[in-house]
Amino acid sequence: MKTEKTKIVEHSHLVGDYRLLVLDAPEISAQAVPGQFVHVRIPQLEESALRRPFSLYKAENSTISILYKVVGRGTAALATAAEGSELDVMGPFGNGFPIPGSEVTPLLVAGGYGVAPLYLMATRCLKKGVLFVGGATAEDILCIDEFEKLGWDVRVATMDGTLGSQGLVTDVLDEWLTENSARNDYSPAGHEIFACGPDGMLKALGDRAIAGEFKGWLSLDKHMGCGVGACLACVQKLQNVGGDEYWGRVCKDGPVFESREIVWESSE
Ligand SMILES: Cc1cc2nc3c(=O)[nH]c(=O)nc-3n(C[C@H](O)[C@H](O)[C@H](O)COP(=O)(O)OP(=O)(O)OC[C@H]3O[C@@H](n4cnc5c(N)ncnc54)[C@H](O)[C@@H]3O)c2cc1C
Ligand code: FES
Repeated sequence: MKTEKTKIVEHSHLVGDYRLLVLDAPEISAQAVPGQFVHVRIPQLEESALRRPFSLYKAENSTISILYKVVGRGTAALATAAEGSELDVMGPFGNGFPIPGSEVTPLLVAGGYGVAPLYLMATRCLKKGVLFVGGATAEDILCIDEFEKLGWDVRVATMDGTLGSQGLVTDVLDEWLTENSARNDYSPAGHEIFACGPDGMLKALGDRAIAGEFKGWLSLDKHMGCGVGACLACVQKLQNVGGDEYWGRVCKDGPVFESREIVWESSE
């Protein structure tokens, strides 16, 4: 089990309910793969509910950064952690996204804080691609200037139209796919989707990847317990290439799965 006592270097409010946490964590930073997560022990929570999973947003200069949204009691307690104090962090855990070859144009698709692991992904991709990012309102669209600084094309959608196109992030992706699939040099093998966000968005993206015959790598967001494969709190129904179904653990076997592996339940 990889646990690191980290020190909070920076803890700041970004916008709305979103916050940035920067930790001095040389061991985790050195091993970080985009799409992996850390399991953070939340100060002031009881023994049985100590940790919460967060994606690695940045890993540089011996530090790791986490970009998180305050949604409940764990993240609300985390928001009170003071700069300079210690935080017990386990990880990095999970498989992470496969880094595509230079012949592949990566299409990153994020919903809300799902942009966090995709930023680390963008810093490691051999070829610059397109970031499609969506949220309910402009406050849910984070760090797009950082993607632009890396030279990525950024397309934004908000449900209320306060930033970018009004509607779903899949609408702007569909426009891009329609424009680009009409090009003479278009090939499905030349594109792959890498996505993180709510289940409805991920399922819609998986459907597009399967219909368009390209790969779609989806990072699932499940409630977690142990974070290391022991408690089965995070299971997801999967299928192998022969169509046999089985249960996988999002913390250990994922959180990233290829679209064709995931069996979506009707309620998901
Ligand atoms: C692999 C992974 C990576 C993640 N990365 C990030 C990240 O980079 N930034 C970030 O802000 N959050 C991330 N999350 C989600 C984060 O772990 C949860 O928001 C957090 O655990 C909520 O804790 P809480 O005690 O504040 O909320 P709770 O009080 O436990 O719950 C509050 C509300 O949030 C819902 N909720 C709780 N956990 C999840 C979850 N995992 N997925 C969806 N809804 C949930 C509950 O159903 C409830 O409605 C990630 C989750 C996973 C599994
Ligand atoms: S969180 Fe315990 S098995 Fe995944």
